[in-house]
Amino acid sequence: MDVRAAILLLFLTMLSVSKAKLDVHYYEETCPELEKIVSDTLLNASKHDPKVPPRILRMFFHDCFIRGCDASVLLDSSPGNKAEKDGPPNKSVASFYVVDDAKAKIEKACPGTVSCADILAIAARDVVTMSGGPYWNVLKGRKDGRISKASDTLKLPPPSSNVTQLTKMFAKKGFGIKDLVTLSGAHTLGFSHCSSFQPRLHNFSSLHDTDPSIDSEFAHDLRTKCPSNKPHNHKKGKNDGHFLDSTASVFDNDYYKRMIARKSVLLSDQSLVWDSRTRRIVEDFARDQGLFFREFVDSMLKLGSLVNDVGEVRLNCRVVN
Ligand code: HEM
Ligand SMILES: *[C@@H]1O[C@H](CO)[C@@H](O)[C@H](O)[C@H]1NC(C)=O
Ligand SMILES: *[C@@H]1O[C@H](CO)[C@@H](O)[C@H](O)[C@H]1NC(C)=O
Ligand SMILES: *[C@@H]1O[C@H](CO)[C@@H](O)[C@H](O)[C@H]1NC(C)=O
Ligand SMILES: *[C@@H]1O[C@H](CO)[C@@H](O)[C@H](O)[C@H]1NC(C)=O
Repeated sequence: MDVRAAILLLFLTMLSVSKAKLDVHYYEETCPELEKIVSDTLLNASKHDPKVPPRILRMFFHDCFIRGCDASVLLDSSPGNKAEKDGPPNKSVASFYVVDDAKAKIEKACPGTVSCADILAIAARDVVTMSGGPYWNVLKGRKDGRISKASDTLKLPPPSSNVTQLTKMFAKKGFGIKDLVTLSGAHTLGFSHCSSFQPRLHNFSSLHDTDPSIDSEFAHDLRTKCPSNKPHNHKKGKNDGHFLDSTASVFDNDYYKRMIARKSVLLSDQSLVWDSRTRRIVEDFARDQGLFFREFVDSMLKLGSLVNDVGEVRLNCRVVN
């Protein structure tokens, strides 16, 4: 073998270890029914429980942000190991049963073939599309990881973050400012518990009891929903909170319009208008929903490409093989 061929071979080998080869057609031969099974399962589950779409979308974010999209978020705790799903930001990370349902059906159709990480990636696309958002072709070929640690959830941005902190946390994963603003748009769907925004409503600072960046009428509305800073004092119990958007079951650009109107629920969302670089993008998305959709597809493909090459195809999404 001459030197050039050896170098080429070395180069190709390096490529294949450093980057998992995700492919739209990955299961075309081995599991042709895959996408239909996943979308049927998600459609049916969402019909019975409207909380399913936001929960699945959030689950995918949490999965990919920690150890890459390797279904680490799906693993149950085991003796001696507290898993991600039982870590601090566990509120409303739920609906795991839907992934289990899809996996069970897929194991029947094509045993031992499709990773749980790929099922979650397809499901995340499906819930966006069925809520009125864009469609995209999901790249597949991820492997399921064997590690899930509650302590890793500290790598997820807390809702108290401001734009500076968010930018830093997203940059660590290779995301720019546009990805941050775009992916935050997932909050066009779903709900937040009081605990995630309570510090904005009560005893906010020495000067202001309530965060002055919130529109005053909206602040009043939030305080009605979350009247005290002690969760156990709530009349309706610990499930009190507020929808993240006024059209929380529709994937649209209202989230950005409300941000400009100072009606974001989370401080992390509201802070995106405080920096001129993020504000410009917020304004573009508020004006042009089509642009938001195109960028969302782009950023979701990027999020879904955070992968490790090591792992397995789990037979049960909750436990390693
Ligand atoms: C930018 C940083 C982010 C922060 C600080 C953040 C924080 C939060 C918080 C605190 C909640 C409410 C949890 C609760 O109280 O129940 C939430 C909900 C949600 N998040 Fe995020 N998130 C971020 C980015 C993302 C991304 C990138 C996605 C998906 C691509 C996402 C999807 C969702 C969805 C869909 C919900 C609603 C969940 C439900 O209704 O059950 N978030 N997020
Ligand atoms: C549809 O969803 C409901 C509620 O989760 C479940 O009981 C039922 O078995 C599902 N049907 C199909 C065909 O999957
Ligand atoms: C959620 O996280 C909190 C804080 O770490 C913990 O006390 C609680 O037990 C967790 N909940 C579940 C269901 O694991
Ligand atoms: C963001 O928060 C950090 C830490 O609390 C603070 O130092 C910084 O000044 C804040 N930045 C903005 C733009 O509010
Ligand atoms: C408000 O915050 C101050 C300073 O952190 C604290 O001393 C005070 O006890 C808090 N008040 C309430 C009602 O939580």
